[in-house]
Amino acid sequence: MQDKVPTGLDRKESEVYRRLDTARLPKHIAIIMDGNGRWAKRRHMPRVAGHRAGVAAVRSTVETAARIHIPALTLYAFSEENWKRPVTEVGFLMRLLSRYLKAEVPTLNKNNIRLEYIGRQHELPEDVQERMEWARAATASNSGMVLTLALNYSARSELVDAFRAIVDTASQNGGLEHLRIDEGTVSRHLYTRHLPDPDLVVRTSGEMRLSNFLLWQLAYAEIYVTPTLWPDFRGVHLLEGIAEYQKRERRYGGLNHGDKHPPKSIPTEGAENFSVEDAKEIISS
Ligand code: FPP
Repeated sequence: MQDKVPTGLDRKESEVYRRLDTARLPKHIAIIMDGNGRWAKRRHMPRVAGHRAGVAAVRSTVETAARIHIPALTLYAFSEENWKRPVTEVGFLMRLLSRYLKAEVPTLNKNNIRLEYIGRQHELPEDVQERMEWARAATASNSGMVLTLALNYSARSELVDAFRAIVDTASQNGGLEHLRIDEGTVSRHLYTRHLPDPDLVVRTSGEMRLSNFLLWQLAYAEIYVTPTLWPDFRGVHLLEGIAEYQKRERRYGGLNHGDKHPPKSIPTEGAENFSVEDAKEIISS
């Protein structure tokens, strides 16, 4: 479909890119990077070797996404649940992240990428927090793709933090009596308030789970699961995921050719006129 291929794409990437409709690229892609341990095990290597190899996959994916002008990419790099891993593995991941940030800032700047984070940052080791702040500041004036790293992230904790923030703000501004909460209020208090909801979520290594990742924001996202293990994932696999996404028909709960946009909020007014027949139609659609 596409004749003009962005500079920097290799031959395989260009082939897939030509099949894409550039007017319908996802605005935000979220990725659950999984399979580092299995990748290492298959090679009789320690698990951490899989994480180390995963950095090349991050690099390739980020660069390709930026080259094709995806506005936002979010990577699940460390979950709150990951603290349950052996202390040596956690330590390795923290050092790897720190090194990645230091090494990658020049490339992020070259590609006009702005770095952001989601998760309970204040619970991470102090030296990692400092490195994160440094990298964020060093890329803050870039106007291209927003690369968000989910670090010490849990979607349920994010929702808890959002509800706490809503209540705290209300009590400082005249109390809870007049507090009105709708979907917009919740969205504005999430860690992702700087981002549109993802249109596409990719999970590597064949697992069919969301693993406590962006549970609110992924409400209408297309899910693409690939058997490729994360360390083998490259920009071309991202493009294949986008090609698959473009084959899907997004209905947002509407009918075949109906509304192609996600609902802004749940309609509460007029709900009293909602009949059993309406409900049956929605269920059978
Ligand atoms: C899941 O694989 C992966 C992680 C928990 C860590 C993700 C980290 C990286 C890709 C390394 C670098 C990241 C950045 C941003 C520099 P797993 O260990 O759960 O694999 P398994 O399910 O096969 O055991």
